[in-house]
Amino acid sequence: MISRRGLFAGGAATAAGALATASGALSRGETEREAITLTTGPAVEPFHGAHQAGVATAPQAHAVFLGFDLRKGTRKEAIVRLLQLLTDDAARLTQGRPALADTEPELAASPARLTITFGFGPGLFAAAGVDAPVETLPAFSTDRLEQRWSGGDLLVQVCADDTVTVAHAVRMIVKDARSFARVRWTQRGFRSTNRRNLMGQIEGTVNATDLDRAVWIGAGPLRGGTTMVLRRIRMRLETWDAADRVAREFTIGRRLGNGAPLTGAAETDAADYAAENRLGFPVISEFAHIRRAHVADPALRLLRRPYNYDEGLTAEGESDSGLLFVSYQADVAAQFVPVQRMLAEGDLLNEWVTAIGSAVFAVPPGCAPGGWIGEALLG
Ligand code: HEM
Repeated sequence: MISRRGLFAGGAATAAGALATASGALSRGETEREAITLTTGPAVEPFHGAHQAGVATAPQAHAVFLGFDLRKGTRKEAIVRLLQLLTDDAARLTQGRPALADTEPELAASPARLTITFGFGPGLFAAAGVDAPVETLPAFSTDRLEQRWSGGDLLVQVCADDTVTVAHAVRMIVKDARSFARVRWTQRGFRSTNRRNLMGQIEGTVNATDLDRAVWIGAGPLRGGTTMVLRRIRMRLETWDAADRVAREFTIGRRLGNGAPLTGAAETDAADYAAENRLGFPVISEFAHIRRAHVADPALRLLRRPYNYDEGLTAEGESDSGLLFVSYQADVAAQFVPVQRMLAEGDLLNEWVTAIGSAVFAVPPGCAPGGWIGEALLG
C-alpha cells in the first residue's frame, strides 16, 4: 500500500524529474535550433535575370502551386498593376526581405532558396486583349480531368526548402492578389533528396540538358521565357501494392533499386531499346513508360520538375496521393503533346495512374531590377 508520505516523496521526485526534463528539453531545444539553422536559413536564389528562377533551379524540397482566376472585369491596366505588385513581393521575399506591409516580417528572414515563378494562362491574355502564346491542351483518352484542379488565368509557383517560408510567401502573394483575382486551386507538393516518387521509383534520370534549345524560347514576346504544363496525376497505390517487383520494373523499364534501365547496370547507362531476351522479345517492353516517353532529339526533351502530393487518407485508409507532374518546354505542341499522346495510347503505367488535373501557362522571361514579370508581353 502506498503511504501518504510515500506519495508525497514520490510527488517531490516527480517534480524533480520534471525539472530535470525541463532542463533536458532546453538543451534538446538548442540542438534542434542548430539543426534548423542547417536545413533552412539564409540561402538565396537570384530573382532578377534573363530567365525566371524556379525553372532551371535545382528543385527545392517543398512547393505550392497557386492557380488564380482574374475577377470579372479585370483588364490590362489592372493586370499590369497586379503583376507589378507581385513582382515586388517576389523580388523582396526571395532575397530574404519582408514584402511591403508584411504582417510577419520576421518570417522573411529565412528564404531557404525561395523562388516565386509566374505563369500566364490563356484567360489572362484574353482579359488583357493580347494574343495568347499558349492554348489549353487537347483531350487525351486516359484523362479524367476535374475542373477543380484544371485551368487558371495566373499561376504562382512557390518553392523553398522550408515549409514555413513557403506558407508565408503564399500568404503575402494571396493577400496582394486578392482584389484582382480569386484562388482557383492550391496544389502542394514535396520532394525527397533521393528523388523517389510515392511508387518508390527514382525520377529525373533522363531530362532536358540543352536548356537553350529545349526550354528557353529564342524569339518573339516570350523570348527568354518558356511554357509550363502542370498535371495532377493520381496514383492508385492500393493496387500498385499488388504488383510484384518484376512487374513494377517491367512497367517503367528501369530497376527500382538503382534506377538502371533493364538493359544496363547503372542509372546513367543509356537504355538499349533494341536489346532482346532469349525468346526474342524486347527487354524493355514496347509499352514500358520510358520507351513510350523517350525522345531521341535533346532539343525536344522536356525539363521535368515534378513534386509528390499526399493529401491524407479516406476513412477506409485509401491514400489520395500522386504526382504533380511539371514540365517546362519551349513548345508545348512539339514537345509535351506527342509524348503525352504516346503515353495515353499504351503506357503500362496507365493501369495505376490517372491525370485528374491539367493546366498550361506561358512563363514570361525574367526581369531586371525595377522591371516586372510580363513586361515584354503586356507592357
Ligand atoms: C504519375 C505519373 C508518372 C510517373 C510515376 C512517372 C515515372 C517515371 C519514371 C520512374 C521515369 C524513369 C526515370 C526518369 O528518367 O525520370 C520516367 C521517365 C520519363 N517520364 Fe515519366 N512518369 C509519370 C508521368 C509522366 C508524364 C505525364 C510524362 C509526359 C507527358 C512523362 C514523361 C517522362 C519522360 C520524357 C521520361 C524520360 C524518358 C526517357 O528515358 O527518355 N512521365 N517517368
